[in-house]
Amino acid sequence: MQITSFEQYQETYKQSVNEPEKFWAGIAENFLWKKKWDNVLSWNFSEPNIKWFEGAKLNITDNCLDRHLIEHGDRPAIIWEPNDPEKDSITLTYKILHERVCRFANVLKKNGAKKGDRICIYMPMVPELAIAVLACARIGAVHSVVFGGFSAKSIADRINDASCKLVITADGAFRGNKQIQLKEVIDDALIGCPTIEKVIVLTHTRTPVSMLKGRDCWWEDEVKMVDANCPAEEMDAEDLLFILYTSGSTGKPKGVVHTCAGYMVYTGYTFSNVFNYQPNEVFFCTADIGWITGHSYIVYGPLSQGATTVMFEGIPTFPTASRFWQVIEKHKVNILYTAPTAIRSLMGFGTEPLNGIDLSSLRVLGSVGEPINEEAWHWFDEEIGKKKSPIVDTWWQTETGGIMISPIAYVTPTKPSFATLPLPGIQPILVDENGKEIEGNGVNGNLCIKFPWPGMLRTTYGDHERCKLTYFSTYENLYFTGDGCLRDEDGYYRITGRVDDVINVSGHRIGTAEVENAINMHAGVIESAVVGYPHDVKGQGIFAFVIYPNLNKDADLTRKDILQTVTRVIGAIAKPDKILFVSGLPKTRSGKIMRRILRKVAEGDTGNLGDISTLLDPNVVNEIIESSKTL
Ligand code: WT7
Repeated sequence: MQITSFEQYQETYKQSVNEPEKFWAGIAENFLWKKKWDNVLSWNFSEPNIKWFEGAKLNITDNCLDRHLIEHGDRPAIIWEPNDPEKDSITLTYKILHERVCRFANVLKKNGAKKGDRICIYMPMVPELAIAVLACARIGAVHSVVFGGFSAKSIADRINDASCKLVITADGAFRGNKQIQLKEVIDDALIGCPTIEKVIVLTHTRTPVSMLKGRDCWWEDEVKMVDANCPAEEMDAEDLLFILYTSGSTGKPKGVVHTCAGYMVYTGYTFSNVFNYQPNEVFFCTADIGWITGHSYIVYGPLSQGATTVMFEGIPTFPTASRFWQVIEKHKVNILYTAPTAIRSLMGFGTEPLNGIDLSSLRVLGSVGEPINEEAWHWFDEEIGKKKSPIVDTWWQTETGGIMISPIAYVTPTKPSFATLPLPGIQPILVDENGKEIEGNGVNGNLCIKFPWPGMLRTTYGDHERCKLTYFSTYENLYFTGDGCLRDEDGYYRITGRVDDVINVSGHRIGTAEVENAINMHAGVIESAVVGYPHDVKGQGIFAFVIYPNLNKDADLTRKDILQTVTRVIGAIAKPDKILFVSGLPKTRSGKIMRRILRKVAEGDTGNLGDISTLLDPNVVNEIIESSKTL
């Protein structure tokens, strides 16, 4: 199923559009099914109702584990590299990974988990995280992984939204020179989570933790009490595989739902093609499994293809800015998949950290999460790829399940800062504000997808109406991505960034409304407005305009207090980079905040603010501009 020439890509693309069902059925033949499908696709984007491979029976872990055992049981499945370079790395072969997944699946059963139950996973980047994810899939439980940087309140909201029954966590996590007390955060979260019956705790940092009798148990004890035989549960194609929460422009984060068969086929196909993965190569995706990139391209995609996937616990700059490059050298990584923010941050250290490090194993480079600027693209190409490794700039989203618009390595001619062309089966279109298709090349518009693909979201957990409203109602019969996009003269796509109130900070999506709600919870704050602004390393930073009338204390201390509140409510990842105290916000007569103006102020571009005549009080703008100069 690998495409090896540009002509073949063009042929395949045409076929995938003309006969999508035949195309995807052909791809699906490369997977292991307990029973094949009766119907490849039935769909409408109005409800929406999307079903792929209906009637099929499968378990994704049969595809990620069992089917590799006969021929490749001793091949490394996961290579784990710890935060501390002095500690040993760990290699789990497919055979060992299979055994440990089965054993932990039995632990889950022993603790009352059944097919369909939701299980929250809040863990460090250790092999047991991948094991926990796969063990859920093995028994047909629905995992909901929460990134280690989220607060107790965020976890509680997610647990309650999905009525999770179990939590899998660890005592703590190492991240650079910091430690995160995961179990303590979980204990705080669970005060408000009545549905949780059991908590399974892995020992990792050996920080003291409280263990509640009857509720909490140790991973290490539990695995001794079960055997390693656990046949995979038979799942329907459209049974839920997992929920992953992501931020939008309004309200609380939504639980994006992915289902078994389509997600498996889509992540496996895109992994194999985009990265041109060859047997026995080592693939290193630097994301955290707490995000979709980790789900699709650390765990499911690589493992379903029998690949060797690297899991790195640490960060690029600890203990030094050579760390990433040392990991690549040590494990002879062939394919590196990382984020523009990491590239920019490492670029800042110059080439000195690269001295004496052998990167010759690298053959493909990938980028994901946000638009990659040309400077970072060239640095990546020249200093890391030595101009011989193609860069695949992969555009996709939590909702799309897998890569959508991207070069195929060694196939698609690349162009700096362009995600280039849609993968087979993906039908992008650009529309104007009224939803009218913008045809031809050399045009800009809002990016939509007009035909389903197997990896797409099926619903938002517990609230199908919200799924419809968010993605399928802006433009009739189209999936709306929330991104703006340019299609250049060659028909190449360049994603220009979000057109909604979502900020992309270091490749992480943060809703402005969410941050505003958190800031507004701080005593003394009357109102706030949050916008994104260009940030050299993070891509976008968070700028908060805050009305806080009685600023009689030291303003800097109040700023820190507000950051503390945001950390409590959402997590450290949502902390504003800048806070400006203002006495009013620019509102229209109907009470809507004119964010356009705030964005300009945040960018420091106040020369031409456009039409402000509809503002209730245009004077507010001058005042904001004046005080922004003091920041
Ligand atoms: C948003 C999705 C699944 C990837 C990890 C982030 C932005 C993602 C690119 C890219 C330009 C990109 C978009 C998208 N984005 N990849 N290659 N070029 N922008 O997943 O948190 O669901 O965010 O990230 O704005 O809508 P996510």
